[in-house]
Amino acid sequence: MTAGQASTGDFDKVLVVDFGAQYAQLIARRVREAHVFSEIVPRTITAAEVREHDPVGIILSGGPASVYADDAYEIDPEILSLGIPTLGICYGHQVIADGLGGEVVRNDVAEYGRADLKVTGSSLLLRGLPEEQVVWMSHRDAVSAPPHGFAVTAATADSPVAAMEDRERHIYGVQFHPEVVHTVRGQEMLKHFLYEACRARPLWTHAGIIEQSVDAVRSSVGDGTVICGLSGGVDSSVAAALVHKAIGDQLVCVFVDHGLLRKDEGVQVEDTFRSSFHMNLIHVQAEDRFLSALAGVTEPEQKRKIIGETFIRVFEEVATEVSDARFLVQGTLYPDVIESGTADAAKIKSHHNVGGLPEDMELSLIEPLRDLFKDEVRAVGEELGIPEEIVWRQPFPGPGLAVRIVGEVTKERLDILRAADAIVLEEVQRAGLYTELWQSFAILPAIRSVGVQGDGRTYAYPIIIRAVTSEDAMTADWARLPYEVLERISSRVINEVPGVNRVAYDISSKPPATIEWE
Ligand code: XMP
Repeated sequence: MTAGQASTGDFDKVLVVDFGAQYAQLIARRVREAHVFSEIVPRTITAAEVREHDPVGIILSGGPASVYADDAYEIDPEILSLGIPTLGICYGHQVIADGLGGEVVRNDVAEYGRADLKVTGSSLLLRGLPEEQVVWMSHRDAVSAPPHGFAVTAATADSPVAAMEDRERHIYGVQFHPEVVHTVRGQEMLKHFLYEACRARPLWTHAGIIEQSVDAVRSSVGDGTVICGLSGGVDSSVAAALVHKAIGDQLVCVFVDHGLLRKDEGVQVEDTFRSSFHMNLIHVQAEDRFLSALAGVTEPEQKRKIIGETFIRVFEEVATEVSDARFLVQGTLYPDVIESGTADAAKIKSHHNVGGLPEDMELSLIEPLRDLFKDEVRAVGEELGIPEEIVWRQPFPGPGLAVRIVGEVTKERLDILRAADAIVLEEVQRAGLYTELWQSFAILPAIRSVGVQGDGRTYAYPIIIRAVTSEDAMTADWARLPYEVLERISSRVINEVPGVNRVAYDISSKPPATIEWE
């Protein structure tokens, strides 16, 4: 745990064992929506480690593997004998059946999508729910016989054991996915597991999170001074407001203008935080320093590393000017922590606020949002009274426009991208689409193409528009922007931004692409 991270010890906790599918995060969020704290842990966790977490319940997630595969995922068998209420979902359901002596068969046909579930026996999970209901399936293997001591409680046409439970041992399994919205009554099933099987108390509320964070920050900081890197984005704003609530004037916010910001962003940050929040704010102009560090660099990971390190160095220098500053606030979120490889997930990019920190950093980190998903951060922000324009602001990466410029980052190329980006934003806002989209922005690639403008031939850059919908940035789809909006953006960018003669639209989803281009 880093300093200032809310101690989650007072909340009942459910562990979500991650078998490698993207469902683990969704399960963790659904549990939290039921006001119970959840934490994702790798499938290699041992029974002893589970005990250290002291959870009130365990959920085994779905996964891509088959219990018959050579590299089938297993869990420490001891975990199922700890007496902690456990729910297996999809692959987790099969792991329970296989591990406790039931039977799992490989079906000829996979069962994907909608299925009609029939309740066939008395069930804690399904209590009070309709006898027939729609659930969502995604599996090939299926449990054909439950382990000794388990009652079969529901079936579908292709899954004779779609739900089973052993109430004495507090172990439950469902073949379908209660966490997805297509399983219409799924959240109620999860609540039955949480409140009745686990007896979890619904204390993980936004007010509860704030109270806990404020206490944690106060006790780790004492009367010391804390520096906070404020970018004007949702995460750093909420982190700053939380810390400000805890320690008031002991907080000094530092806004580093690295020259990689969007149009007018510096002015906005000044106005909001100095005028409305009355926070101590130091505005550092460091464009030249960042641009000279980035000169000639084209490799994406190297750009990120340079920006991350320069960022921290600038902070350290400011910190020495601010007497006795010993802590640095960062708005790191739970998905950043998982995506950077800490929880059995592959490393995709080193997000500069986690992986790229220099090892000899002199400030201790305070990360009040490290346990939170984005939707929780927004809710906490609203609860703290942060204005809507900030709370609902689209995410912007720490390394700024540098990860949206393919090839070398120069002042000239930044100015082109900044001007085009402002037009994308204006038109998206004018069309009323801003909050519907996860992100919408412009990219500047390292190619040029031939065009004709007026009487002359041009050889200029294209601008690529990227607009995506997403729940949490782990997966994303390209947004179906109306043609009229695309048309307005295209004609304005080409007419108003010198150096651009073509506009293209990125129609890639994540995966296999990522949201940013670098
Ligand atoms: P990708 O490109 O990996 O981005 O699909 C996922 C989300 O993360 C944002 N992003 C970052 N945020 N520091 C950040 O704070 C970073 O280094 C960084 N890189 C990407 C990106 O904008 C998207 O919302």
